[in-house]
Amino acid sequence: MKILVTGGLGFIGSHTVVELQQKGYEVVIIDNLSNSTITVLDGIEKISGTRPYFERLDLRDKSAVFSFFEVNKDISGVIHFAASKAVGESVENPLLYYENNIATLVYVLQALEKYQIPNFIFSSSCTVYGQADELPITENAPVKIAESPYGNTKQIGEEIIQDTCKISQQLKAIALRYFNPIGAHPSAELGELPIGVPQNLVPYITQTGIGIRKQLSVFGNDYPTVDGTCVRDYIHVVDLAKAHVVSIERLINNSNTDNYETFNIGTGKGSTVLEVIQSFERVSQTSLNYSFAPRRTGDIISAYADTTKVTSELGWEAKSTLDDAMRSAWDWEVKIKK
Ligand SMILES: NC(=O)c1ccc[n+]([C@@H]2O[C@H](COP(=O)([O-])OP(=O)(O)OC[C@H]3O[C@@H](n4cnc5c(N)ncnc54)[C@H](O)[C@@H]3O)[C@@H](O)[C@H]2O)c1
Repeated sequence: MKILVTGGLGFIGSHTVVELQQKGYEVVIIDNLSNSTITVLDGIEKISGTRPYFERLDLRDKSAVFSFFEVNKDISGVIHFAASKAVGESVENPLLYYENNIATLVYVLQALEKYQIPNFIFSSSCTVYGQADELPITENAPVKIAESPYGNTKQIGEEIIQDTCKISQQLKAIALRYFNPIGAHPSAELGELPIGVPQNLVPYITQTGIGIRKQLSVFGNDYPTVDGTCVRDYIHVVDLAKAHVVSIERLINNSNTDNYETFNIGTGKGSTVLEVIQSFERVSQTSLNYSFAPRRTGDIISAYADTTKVTSELGWEAKSTLDDAMRSAWDWEVKIKK
């Protein structure tokens, strides 16, 4: 069976390609290399033994999208990762984000309709919950007003898919709301490749540990949490990748209970920034240079998933510990430094 992975050379996409290949799927990747490099294909091939078919294509080019599907009518399902994801950049350039995250989604859904491809997985985010009123966060928690154009593209994206599923004769879709993906493949052949200054905590930690950055700033140590720093639910990227495989299989096997479903993808456990730093220091045997800085506006204090629904309906749960994820992130950083 052939699965299309858009954004398949990116951080989460590349790990998902490997998991799909290891389950016997033929994978086709679309990526425009705006936030990835072609060498990721080598990493995928080293792990799985198979080089996936790759098409360099910008999904903003509607006619190119339709031409692609015209010659790939035998695709059974699509996992749609391709999007821009830098929150700060989205504030500076909202139209870029609405074009790259929304227009591309519309084109892909139109192509699925035209070519009668029924199965669609969407990369959503726990950002849709904002600061949830209750923890852990269930899928029924209300969607809060988005803090950024990026966050808004995830909310609007979910609504577009839901509206389409309501009237479509054939479309079945799952939106996966990721908590905080971290780590790298245990082989150190794939990982996160942040361009410029990392936006996320873990690559900032590993780059500081290896000497690319001087010091990590921990924003706020007076929050109402166990040690005063913010709490997040850090999910190993390989566990996250596996969640995509079980999700597309749920649709392929018609095991879905609704033609539009949402699932939280997290560990169910919150970790503070200081706990992540301690985990890093433990697994890398390195002391991290960090200092406390004032709170950042807009930062959510605490967010972690209720995973009851995903465990009972998808039969999926995160297996890796925070230390496993931090070790793999460190091994990857050491490898790419060489
Ligand atoms: N990493 C996170 O923390 C996180 C959290 C929640 C949700 N998500 C979502 O998961 C998805 C994947 O995230 P990631 O961390 O792997 O990001 P990434 O930037 O590593 O991967 C995205 C890939 O899509 C490609 N791409 C972007 N625009 C494209 C276009 N117009 N046409 C073709 N390819 C295009 C990029 O080149 C890149 O390879 C995104 O939709 C992101 O918003 C990520």
